[in-house]
Amino acid sequence: MKYLKIMILALGLAGCNTKKEATLHLQKQVDSLEKKLANTYKPGFGEFMSSIQVHHNKLWFAGLHQNWDLADFEIHEIMENIDDIQKFQKERKESQMIDMIRPSLDSVNAAIRNKNQVQFNSSYHILTNTCNSCHRATGFAFNIVKTPETVPFSNQEFTLHHPATGTNSSRHD
Ligand code: HEC
Repeated sequence: MKYLKIMILALGLAGCNTKKEATLHLQKQVDSLEKKLANTYKPGFGEFMSSIQVHHNKLWFAGLHQNWDLADFEIHEIMENIDDIQKFQKERKESQMIDMIRPSLDSVNAAIRNKNQVQFNSSYHILTNTCNSCHRATGFAFNIVKTPETVPFSNQEFTLHHPATGTNSSRHD
């Protein structure tokens, strides 16, 4: 009985000690995580824009070739980048204006869903104009985007594979 009491007391003390140790250990972990976080790479506003530029380019050729699955992919990549700007570039005042692009992204998205080339072309041009409106509004008027003339990469297929012949459909690029 005596031994049991001593043991309980000892355990209690040990528990107190471990609690303190655990708190210290946690604090150390928090400190090291904070340090890691401060050194974590975060893409800059311009890097998100460069990514958007590529998808904006590919989107055009996907739509031009009525490759609607690819076009759907590209428009959503742009949307994700816009979301990421809002999430990771909160401190930039320009981010407050980014929502202005959403309606034009939605209309391109609708054109893609409808597989409607005419609607795609006109909504793409409105989208591009909106990109430039924001560049003007944020003091980056010299960054002018336009409808691309050539495919951005030679190692990606934008035309749809023709299932009957196994050859690619006609090229317009
Ligand atoms: C918030 C409004 C806003 C919208 C909407 C916007 N941009 Fe930008 N864009 C900026 C800002 C601000 C910069 C300059 C970023 C920096 O500080 O590096 C920029 C830079 C760029 C650049 C230059 C990147 C470089 O390093 O050369 C390109 C290209 C670009 N944007 C493309 C687009 C395209 C394409 C769209 C539309 C799909 C678009 N932007 C929509 C604000 C916007």
